[in-house]
Amino acid sequence: MKKIAVMTSGGDAPGMNAGIRAVTRTALSMGIEVMGIYRGYQGMIEADFIPLDHFKVSNIIHRGGTFLKTARSQDFRTVEGRATAAANLKKEGVEGLVVIGGDGSFRGAAALHSEHGIKVVGCPGTIDNDLFGTDYTIGYDTAVNTAVHAIDQIRDTADSHNRLFFVEVMGRDAGFIALRTGLASGAESVLVPETTTYIDELIVHLQKGLKMQKSSAIIIVAEGDDEGGAIDVARKVNEKFTGWETKVTVLGHIQRGGSPTAFDRILASRMGHQAVKSLLAGATDIMIGQRNNEMVEVPFGQAVKHHETLNPHLLELVEILA
Ligand code: F6P
Repeated sequence: MKKIAVMTSGGDAPGMNAGIRAVTRTALSMGIEVMGIYRGYQGMIEADFIPLDHFKVSNIIHRGGTFLKTARSQDFRTVEGRATAAANLKKEGVEGLVVIGGDGSFRGAAALHSEHGIKVVGCPGTIDNDLFGTDYTIGYDTAVNTAVHAIDQIRDTADSHNRLFFVEVMGRDAGFIALRTGLASGAESVLVPETTTYIDELIVHLQKGLKMQKSSAIIIVAEGDDEGGAIDVARKVNEKFTGWETKVTVLGHIQRGGSPTAFDRILASRMGHQAVKSLLAGATDIMIGQRNNEMVEVPFGQAVKHHETLNPHLLELVEILA
C-alpha cells in the first residue's frame, strides 16, 4: 500500500482531530502518502480531497470538532453514490481508508469494501460510546466531563432555590453518557433507554428525598428514554408530584464540542496509530477498539450490531448514593 485516505463521518466528537493527526503521522513515518477527505462520504463523492503532510495536522490535537468536517451523506446510501466515491479514490491511487465515526459510518465503509475492494479500518468516534467491542469511544469522556461541569453549576442554583431539575443529556439509543454523568454529579436518579422507566417509582424516590429534608434534586434523563426526553418526564412527574418547583435543562450540542480531555486525545492517538498498522498488515472491515487498555481489532459485523450492556449495578449505585 502506497497511499491511504482518512476521513471523519457522522456526528463529530472531541478527539477526532487527534485521530486524524495520528493516522497521518503514523502513515508518513512508514513512507505512506495520506489524503484527507472533507465532509465524510459526501466529500468522497464530490472528490473534495486534501493531501496531508506533517504540518497540515499541526496544532489540532487540542481542538474539538474535526478540521476535515463531517456529514451524514444521503447520496452515499445509493449504489451509484458509492460507485462515484470509489472511482474518485481509485483515481487518486488510494488503496486503504481509515474512517473515524460511528456505526452508520462503518456500515458505509463495509459497503465500500464489498462493492469496490477498498480496504477499510474504523476508529470509533462518537460521544455515545454505543459500539460493541471497545470499552470507550473517542469523545465520550469529554462529553461526560462537559455534562458533569454543567450539572455542577445547575446544582448551585437548584440548591439555592430548593428546586427539582431534570437534565437531558445526549444518547438516542444508549444511556452511557447519562449513567456516567449521573454517577459523577451525584444525581438522584438516571433514566436510560436500556431500562423501563416507571414514573411512579421515580416519584416515590423523590418523596423519600423530600422527607429526608433534601433541599433539591437532580434527575439525569437520556434523550432516548422510553418515557421521552426531560421535558416529557418532568411533565409526567409534575402531574402527581409537586414537592419541589421543577425546572428542565437540555444540555444538547454543548456536549459535542470543546477541547478533548487528555483521555480522549490519548485514546484517539493510539487508535489512529493502530488503524494504520492494521491496514498495512492487510486487515479490512475491522474497528479498532480498546479493551483493558490494549488496542484490539473488532470485526465491523460485531461492532455495529449492538452496544455493550449498561452495568445495572451502577444504575442502582446512583440511587444508593443519592
Ligand atoms: O450520535 C451522536 C449524537 O450526538 C447523539 O447523541 C444525538 O442523538 C445525535 O448525535 C444528534 O445528532 P445531530 O447533531 O445530527 O442532531
